[in-house]
This record gives sequence, structure tokens and C-alpha cells, in this order.
Amino acid sequence: MRVLMVGDVIGRPGRQAVAAILPRLREELRIDLAVVQGENIAAGFGLTLDTVRELLESGADVITTGNHVWDRKEFMPHLNETELPVIRPMNYPSTAPGRGYVDLGHVVVVNLIGRVFIGEADSPFATIDRFLKTSAAVGRPILVDFHAEATSEKQAMGWYLDGKVAAVVGTHTHVATADPRILPKGTAYVTDLGMVGPIDSVIGMETEDALYRFLNNIPRHLRVAGGRCRFNSVLIELDDATAAPRSIERVDREHSV
Ligand SMILES: [Fe+2]
Ligand SMILES: [Fe+2]
Repeated sequence: MRVLMVGDVIGRPGRQAVAAILPRLREELRIDLAVVQGENIAAGFGLTLDTVRELLESGADVITTGNHVWDRKEFMPHLNETELPVIRPMNYPSTAPGRGYVDLGHVVVVNLIGRVFIGEADSPFATIDRFLKTSAAVGRPILVDFHAEATSEKQAMGWYLDGKVAAVVGTHTHVATADPRILPKGTAYVTDLGMVGPIDSVIGMETEDALYRFLNNIPRHLRVAGGRCRFNSVLIELDDATAAPRSIERVDREHSV
């Protein structure tokens, strides 16, 4: 099985880049499953039903999220629609809308969020531990999107889950890391997938807005930047017989508008 895991998609330019690149990649790389980070698809903040549908039409099979999942209140009820393959971090309180994993039969996708410089949540380590003991998790390859700010926390999760899950990929920083590898006990790992969003920006947002905030310490709404986009992802190949990860490699493209 060949899985493409795609970094945070930023607003309309990000969605357009996904529409232009993902269908082609699915064919070129013979992708069986595309997992796309969607927490920033709606003007950079959160998700809407329309933008989710757009990503699904572009070839996303599962959409993971993170700290921005609550930004659009109108989307919250849709997190409970089981036919919509959108998940939110599992280590939010169980009373919060949505679910932390999706079971596709041959593979399970899990979403977790970190706790360093990103807000409060239950321990992602204890949460995944509990999940791994459930029947939903046993006997199938598990792909984990660990949405976290700190590189150290993501590396720690990689080591913690090495040999227990098929893959741990980091998201949230919007900057791709050059460290994809198979860990010693067989788990595919990368610290951050990166993003699908404007290159001339501060993590996808207008440089002018970001600089205003940094220079003046005054809040200002961040607009999504424009222009050519990066498309950051990793391709993970799982052995068809054993489901063991065989390889993980970066698949990075550019999209000009
Ligand atoms: Fe993000
Ligand atoms: Fe995030």
C-alpha cells in the first residue's frame, strides 16, 4: 500500500495547489491512500463543509486537523458525521465533537496534538497508549498525524511509538523537515510534513501582517498570502503482505499560479 501524507493546506491557494497536484501525483506514484492536513483550508483558519468537499474532490481520502479545528463554529457539528472522513486530535476531551481516528478497514488513521507551545490537551502519549489496546487498533497498520509545535515532542513521539504503529508524521509548523526515516523498530517517521501554501509568506500568511504583529506586539488578522505554492508531502510504502513500512520519502512540488 502506498500512502501519501500531505502537510497543512493553507486557504484557497493551498486548495488550488492540491487540486492541481494531488490527482496527478495519485497516478504518477500509484497512491492508494491520501491523508491531507486540513486545519487551515478555510482562509487559513479551520474548515468549512465546502472547503472539505473541495479537498475530497481533489483526491483526499482522509482529512486530519489540529489546533485550528475549532475556528469555524459552524463546522463543529459536521465533525460528528461519520460519513465525512474528517478527524480531530484524539487527546481533546471526549465531550468535544468529532473523533480522533478513522478506521478504513485495511488501515487506521489517528490524529493527536502536542502540548508544548500549542495549548492544552490530555497527554498524547497516554491517549495513544489507551487506543492501541482497543480492538480498533489491533492487527492493522496505524498512521499517526501528530500535530505539534516542538520538534522535541514530535521526535519523542516517534521513539515512543516505534514498532507500535506504521507511521508517525508531524504537522503544524508548516515547514518541512528533511529527516524522513524508518526508525529501528520499523516505524516510518518525519518530524514535519510541511505545508501546501504560498512560498512568499510567513508560514503561509501575508508577510506584512506577520511583521506588523512581531514589530508592534499588536494583534492583527493574518491574511493568507498569494503567489506560487509549495506542495509538501511524504510517500510511505507499506509491505502488501505484512503491512510493515518499507520506505518513507519526501515528495515536494511547486505550483505556480
Ligand atoms: Fe497548520
Ligand atoms: Fe496547527
